[in-house]
Amino acid sequence: MATARHEEKELRRESIRPGQGEPVSLAAGVALREFVSQACQARGFSTGTATLEPGAVLPYHTHSFSEAITLLQGVAQVAVEGRTYQLQPFDCLHVPAGVAHEVSNPSAKSPMLALWAFASATPSRDLVETRFTVQPRGQSNPKPGDPESIVRFAEAEVYELSAGADFRDLFAGRFGSVGICGGYGKFRPGSSLPCHVHEYDESITIVEGQATCLVQGNRYQLSDCDTAFVPEGRPHRFINQTDVPMAMIWVYAGTEPGRALVESSYCDGTLAWPGRELAIPLAEKTV
Ligand SMILES: [Fe+2]
Ligand SMILES: [Fe+2]
Repeated sequence: MATARHEEKELRRESIRPGQGEPVSLAAGVALREFVSQACQARGFSTGTATLEPGAVLPYHTHSFSEAITLLQGVAQVAVEGRTYQLQPFDCLHVPAGVAHEVSNPSAKSPMLALWAFASATPSRDLVETRFTVQPRGQSNPKPGDPESIVRFAEAEVYELSAGADFRDLFAGRFGSVGICGGYGKFRPGSSLPCHVHEYDESITIVEGQATCLVQGNRYQLSDCDTAFVPEGRPHRFINQTDVPMAMIWVYAGTEPGRALVESSYCDGTLAWPGRELAIPLAEKTV
């Protein structure tokens, strides 16, 4: 007899969240979009974007969970208790729970777009009134003892996860994040990741080009920050079927990345998914 936990698992399906849906205004010139959260039955994490018009400020606030901010477009200035850093595209700053931070767009003419990831399925923030002494840090990184951490895109280790697919981990437990990890994957034309499953939920945002997404026999086309929510244990893969590069930001509701490769028929739907325990593995190792 299936347990309540199993029945609940079966009911959770993937969903596709539009990258350019109607935003919510959080402050003057600050538009927030929510992609993955408890609203699509996600567990343990949430994702979305924040667009800041030139000169706009998302004032000092805290969260009761870890946050990772990955810049997608423009230039960002992130102040953490006064320590003020500049981020370039795909740089990632992680802020632990309870640490006050402020995000602003220092540009006079270009908007700024960032992807936020929280280690909670329920996004929330508490504004704080505290005044901090400004310590400009520019494009340098936090010092030992600072609670925040930064992974600079240009300095992140690149690894080829499969032929033509280059990955960089941008936030993870080993860099200081708690409960979430994520990174950037770039897919050359014709490249893909093999069909795989995870032990936690995943959010995948397409930040360049167009992706074909297969989830247990269902096929979707994603671009322009469209985001796929893939629940724990559902086989999926992403393919670049175009003749230009495709890139994604992936976020897991887990502290370190891990993927179990399985037979590709589970992704295209020609084989019924029997559950991870009975699945035909594609490789011995987990990558
Ligand atoms: Fe925040
Ligand atoms: Fe995945």
